[in-house]
Amino acid sequence: MSQQLGTLEELPQDYRDAMAAAGVAPLWPMMRKVLPHGRPAPQTKPSYWNFSALRPLLLRAGELTPVEKAERRVLVMSDQGRGTGAMQATSSIYIGMQLLLPGETAPAHRHTPSAARIIVEGKGGYTVVDGEKLPMHRGDLVLTPGGDWHDHGHDGDEPVIWLDALDLPLFVYLEGSYAVEAPLQAQRNRPDAALVEYAAAGLVPSRRARTARRYPMTRFPWDRTEAALRQMAAYTDGAVEMDYINPETGSDVLPTIGFTAMMLRPGETVRPVLTSDSSVFHVIGGQGTSVVDGVTFDWAAKDTFTAPVFATVDHTNTGTEPAFLIRVHDRPLQEKLGYYEERAR
Ligand SMILES: [Fe+2]
Repeated sequence: MSQQLGTLEELPQDYRDAMAAAGVAPLWPMMRKVLPHGRPAPQTKPSYWNFSALRPLLLRAGELTPVEKAERRVLVMSDQGRGTGAMQATSSIYIGMQLLLPGETAPAHRHTPSAARIIVEGKGGYTVVDGEKLPMHRGDLVLTPGGDWHDHGHDGDEPVIWLDALDLPLFVYLEGSYAVEAPLQAQRNRPDAALVEYAAAGLVPSRRARTARRYPMTRFPWDRTEAALRQMAAYTDGAVEMDYINPETGSDVLPTIGFTAMMLRPGETVRPVLTSDSSVFHVIGGQGTSVVDGVTFDWAAKDTFTAPVFATVDHTNTGTEPAFLIRVHDRPLQEKLGYYEERAR
């Protein structure tokens, strides 16, 4: 039975002072905050970023701050439940919008958190991950797993913008976050693994006498993803959502954060079950409306929004073309901790 617990104010001041002096505090006034009944009480609030509002600010950062002074020129997208400047979009997911101008490079480093990029706009950008040069085309998902060297460069003639998603909050919480710097990497002179070893779904290089890299495929080209979604939409019923997986193991592509690609048919509404993971949605194309815990977001291509844990989410495609979104989530982390959960609405 739920029962009102005692508060700090009910205790005599001399007792509270003596406890503070001894370096202790009573648990019961704080109990419900850390162990609420029945379901979590997230601090995270549904949040939304309109790209057309963000873009000029990002381009202005390009004028105000040379990349040498920024290392990574990023505007952090903060959860409204934590306030502007918070390095969290949800409890465990950090996101930011990054700008690289023609001719610029972002120096090589590696760090304990894992990162992923979703390319928003611009041609000619690339990421080098452990010597593999990954072109960055609109909608591509590019991984820089924790511990892998990575740098960014730009061969094109227009600004390149991408969304960064990291498990940084988790590593900060664990006091395990740090980076090591290095000069730009030498690049192997060949296409990336998405176009060589993993060019076709269902085929991997023969496993005889070889060991696959832990993260064998670090770029997932959008053109293939979109084609797969369109086929699923054409020939299956129900919601169209596909997981990005490690082609060698079938598991999630990174240890703590996962990614899905979604397609909404014109006029379609989807109402997923409630899940214990939190999500960041980035719109690749189309337009629609999502209602997250009663908050309505009208979105179009390049916009981004979030859903806290156990949020009630309705997505509707309000346009006449298919809508495409990439969802970033923390299910892999929760599964490793043994508590990922889905509940009926
Ligand atoms: Fe990095």
